[in-house]
Amino acid sequence: MSEPKIVDTATLTVGDKTVELPILEGTEGPRVIDVRKLYAETDMFTYDPSYTSTASCDSELTYIDGDVGILRHGGYSIEDLTENSSFLEVCYLLLHKELPNQAELTEFETTITNHTMIHEQLRNLYSGFRRDAHPMALLIGVVGAMSAFYHDSTDINDPQQRLIASHRLIAKMPTIAAWAYKYTVGQPFVYPNNDMSYAENFLHMTFSVPAEEYKPSPAIVRAMDKIFILHADHEQNASTSTVRLAGSSGANPFACIASGIATLWGPAHGGANQAVLEMLAQIGDKKNIPEFLERAKDKDDPFRLMGFGHRVYKNYDPRAGVLKASADEVLEEVGAANDPLLDLAMELERIALEDEYFVERKLFPNVDFYSGIIFKAIGFPTSMFTVLFALARTVGWIAQWKEMIEDPGQRIGRPRQLFTGPTERPYPPIGNR
Ligand code: CMC
Repeated sequence: MSEPKIVDTATLTVGDKTVELPILEGTEGPRVIDVRKLYAETDMFTYDPSYTSTASCDSELTYIDGDVGILRHGGYSIEDLTENSSFLEVCYLLLHKELPNQAELTEFETTITNHTMIHEQLRNLYSGFRRDAHPMALLIGVVGAMSAFYHDSTDINDPQQRLIASHRLIAKMPTIAAWAYKYTVGQPFVYPNNDMSYAENFLHMTFSVPAEEYKPSPAIVRAMDKIFILHADHEQNASTSTVRLAGSSGANPFACIASGIATLWGPAHGGANQAVLEMLAQIGDKKNIPEFLERAKDKDDPFRLMGFGHRVYKNYDPRAGVLKASADEVLEEVGAANDPLLDLAMELERIALEDEYFVERKLFPNVDFYSGIIFKAIGFPTSMFTVLFALARTVGWIAQWKEMIEDPGQRIGRPRQLFTGPTERPYPPIGNR
């Protein structure tokens, strides 16, 4: 990993003490003030509860410029990758930090294809869940349980084992995710078919039944693959930071990924794609849009416009741009171009983008606004939307975990706090409380 360079120093004066803090520069993006010695020199911490001004690590994987709307993996723009690459090629790029040549890609695809089956004993885990369980609950449980199955890939200090764990996760996630769906709808599990591409195989395991093979059109397979690319990695978001923090203690890699899945589930993060569809159903009709926009602006109302806004993008989310075009293709393909829900979504987007509140706060549609619409058109139930996000993000989580473990300076992550609770007081007997 190339080291960040010290390019300047910042001077901080606290009372009668002055400290010099190095300013570090990466290859692009904002420079950072290195505060690692601050506590030792001043007895003070920095305070940044939701990390809006904190770079938690240095990384070579993914670059985002939220003001301009740029997303790149290894220097390649998301537009270029979705246009010219495949999801497995992007997986290779994230794991190895370079695009593969043809021989490397073929070998990688073969490796992933040969790991698609899951240990038969893992099947039994599904039946421990209620049929009405959310598929994300199943995903967390089954991926967490992988830590008890694949002992030959859990020595985090062995580079080969780290790579095998990464391959296993990427390869088995579609099987685990499809089976989570099958279990909740009461259909038999469909085993992977290694003659199919990654995206096609996932659709096959999700929608085929023994009585009838599901044959997706090439356009649907391509759209699915594109969606996987768009969700593959997104630098230090909440779930990725969770995976890094869990992994920083030296924990089992499969357990770390389960912690990322748990974080992704929330509606402020990956759960937003499900929440968008639920919100559209709640709005119900174009005539109700103004009422819901007013609710979204009202600080006393918990309602927020799902699929709008982003912590980093203060311009159009570039993933949303690619997906908007893809949504048109898919809807045309499945004959849902006149779907009233889509109509409602487009009208909501139009009105929100003209509204002063949204314009002032730079609240644009994000990736989740469009992905839900495409998932619905392909035939996924809303409860599966976040599972699809998790499936694709697995490569980002494991690549970031690998990068962290391979950093020679890596130590356990341990934030501190500003304590605001009671100071020491005597313990009162229970009768005096
Ligand atoms: N609807 C209405 N108001 C909003 C929204 C929204 N969706 N998002 C932000 N705001 C307002 C917020 O109330 C605040 O207003 P004010 O300055 O008057 O207090 C201002 O915009 C800034 O918002 P914030 O909450 O400080 O921003 P944040 O960076 O903490 O939150 C977010 C980012 C994505 C959690 C938030 O925009 C949100 O809840 N959006 C809806 C959920 C969503 O679509 N999430 C998916 C994110 S993209 C996929 C992913 O990365 O997982």
